[in-house]
Amino acid sequence: MSGAGAVTVRVPAKVNVQLAVGGARPDGFHDLANVFLAVSLYDEVTATPADALTVTCEGPDADKVPLDRTNLAARAAELLAARHGIAPDVHLHIAKDIPVAGGMAGGSADGAGALLACDALWGLDTPRAELLEICAELGSDVPFSLVGGAALGVGRGERLTELPVGGTFHWVFAVADGGLSTPAVYGEFDRLNEGVEVPEPVASPALLDALRTGDTAALAGALANGLQAAALSLRPSLAATLAAGTAAGALAALVSGSGPTTAFLVKDAESAESVAAALIASGTCRTARVATSPAAGATVVG
Ligand code: C5P
Repeated sequence: MSGAGAVTVRVPAKVNVQLAVGGARPDGFHDLANVFLAVSLYDEVTATPADALTVTCEGPDADKVPLDRTNLAARAAELLAARHGIAPDVHLHIAKDIPVAGGMAGGSADGAGALLACDALWGLDTPRAELLEICAELGSDVPFSLVGGAALGVGRGERLTELPVGGTFHWVFAVADGGLSTPAVYGEFDRLNEGVEVPEPVASPALLDALRTGDTAALAGALANGLQAAALSLRPSLAATLAAGTAAGALAALVSGSGPTTAFLVKDAESAESVAAALIASGTCRTARVATSPAAGATVVG
């Protein structure tokens, strides 16, 4: 909870229900057709006045979160303060529930959360379009953390079009031991595709339809992650996790973003509980979490 003179923002994790990856661009990034869906696992970022910029973190994986200026929350405060010509004197506390380096945009969530929290704490009222620009500067997935819901991201994933979602989807996320570095997974993608003509990434009409109509079975048939082969190449043990969730009754299984979290689409809340229990019992993951989507984007909660 935040006290007087503090602002707390809640920000969701994401799963990529389609991640179509193009060839490497001259700037090293990859053009994407990236369909983001926000899920109900959240970090909370609390901003309080301080004499200098400091970051603290609590949660089971807190020891894996950098507390220096490489933390996207700290960078968000710096960029916002610089834009308004003020000092970024703020204490940012992250209550972390999103897996760290897991392919669920946990770091991006903290960046978007800090941005919104500082904007409110400092009374800046920065226009939404400017906040989104700062998000894009922070990282490819950060604009989506601000927006939430569902969206198609093109370019390097930062240019968003919000998408309608016609129902609730139920998920299980298997959390792996250790993280995977996003640049390393993209590097492996390039290595696996050396000498191959990689097609232009395009959003799947069947997938967009499944989201719009809230049709879980259709979404299960349309899920696709172009980084999955690269993530599995770097972490072959994820194949056993995917197989365990499928054997337990998941309608579809895929690596979440660049991994190593794996995502399982299930038919309802009851199935989510049984698939999560089976995944934990299988010994192929560190833990399993249930969640629903869509979830709201970054929101001031206190
Ligand atoms: O934008 P962000 O800082 O999250 O990207 C992290 C890394 O992921 C980039 O440095 C790049 O190696 C890779 N990436 C990419 N193409 C994208 C997004 C990210 O190659 N569209």
